[in-house]
Amino acid sequence: MPIHVALVAPVFLANTLRYARAIAALDDVRLALISTQDREALTAVDPELSARVDAVVPVRDPTQAAHLVDATRALQTHWGRVDRLLGVLEQLQVPLGAARTACGVPGMSLDVARNFRDKSRMKDVLRAAGLPVARHRAVTSLADARSFAEQVGYPLVLKPMEGVGAKATWRVNDDSELERVVAALRPSVLHPVQAEEFVVATERTFEAALVDGQATWWSGTRYHPTPLRVLETPWEQYTVLLPREADSPWTDFAPIGIAAVQALGLQTGLCHMEWFERADGSFVIGEVGARPPGVHIMPMMSAVHDTDMVADWVRLVVQGRFDPKPRVKAAGAVFFRAQGRGDRIVAVSGLDEAQAKVGALVIDRSLPEIGARPTGHYEGDGWALLAADTTVEVVQALGLLVRTVRVHLG
Ligand SMILES: Nc1ncnc2c1ncn2[C@@H]1O[C@H](COP(=O)(O)OP(=O)(O)O)[C@@H](O)[C@H]1O
Ligand SMILES: [Mg+2]
Repeated sequence: MPIHVALVAPVFLANTLRYARAIAALDDVRLALISTQDREALTAVDPELSARVDAVVPVRDPTQAAHLVDATRALQTHWGRVDRLLGVLEQLQVPLGAARTACGVPGMSLDVARNFRDKSRMKDVLRAAGLPVARHRAVTSLADARSFAEQVGYPLVLKPMEGVGAKATWRVNDDSELERVVAALRPSVLHPVQAEEFVVATERTFEAALVDGQATWWSGTRYHPTPLRVLETPWEQYTVLLPREADSPWTDFAPIGIAAVQALGLQTGLCHMEWFERADGSFVIGEVGARPPGVHIMPMMSAVHDTDMVADWVRLVVQGRFDPKPRVKAAGAVFFRAQGRGDRIVAVSGLDEAQAKVGALVIDRSLPEIGARPTGHYEGDGWALLAADTTVEVVQALGLLVRTVRVHLG
């Protein structure tokens, strides 16, 4: 009997379609897309995929649980049953959980999805499981924020409860900054803001595949500098390193990371976790997502394991299988950020030198567009992905690219 898979593809963007193609390529699967776009639009971007998609189900706003429930019910009527309801975007995880729970579709429930999405609830669950997290409070007013500041001291971090991409994330150094940031984020009883002690540390990630609650594989990266530091510092360019060796501190952290996803309730899937290693060697879990990672970690993991992680993830969540592969390379990503004065990108310098020195290691890239407005994001305005036989080669190449390539505003 075929497995009936519905993938929420809000719009037919390249990244989402990659997942759709991987599902369509599985044996014995019937695929539907739930989308704001229609069949015609799908056929226009990818006629081959369109031929393999059984239904395109309309949805007005896929971030609304009720809309996803309607779309899922329509598919249950059409197919008789829905076996998997999937989506890769962070913002879809809670509405997906709600729709699975409401419609009786197997997979991550609403309660588990909320553990991964609500930053305060996540930390409560992790702390209750005896796992290390920053001291935190869901603050509802300025007075509440002040009392938390008195308790843990400055600096603090304030951020939206359901943030993504470090948007509206602030480091707060003193009382007057606290007043300013609270005025901007406007916490209330209905919409609390996440306050945390500021963890001074190296930031790393941990990705693991779980089958029926058991980890079968993991990998990890190091961010440098931290995303928040990049956003605070106009000249910093962000890098991500995936070392070849399954080395300390990741090997030391792995049992904690696995215990964390288990405590949050992930059964079968891939997690993406951000964690901190303090100078004294202690660990703090930052946040945990139950979805494939962003910041190009998927293609980096593909390169170092000589595999296609998108296909691997799809097999994991559709068929409950994951075949761990050895790590045979190291990989890195560098994100080029527009700098200087002005509101348009006017030039990119250093590319020829970079190409001559490390071009052989580049596996993919996207160069900044002249005339474009800067994104302001830590992922910057262009990027390059690298892979090499040794971690040292990748570290050196990332350093060279960060020093050599400049995106100029004017
Ligand atoms: N308690 C903290 N201490 C230090 N840095 C933090 C803390 N919380 C967040 N950050 C920084 O802010 C970034 C964004 O915060 P995060 O909780 O990951 O939210 P998002 O969902 O927006 O990615 C992190 O990657 C980290 O650099
Ligand atoms: Mg984050």
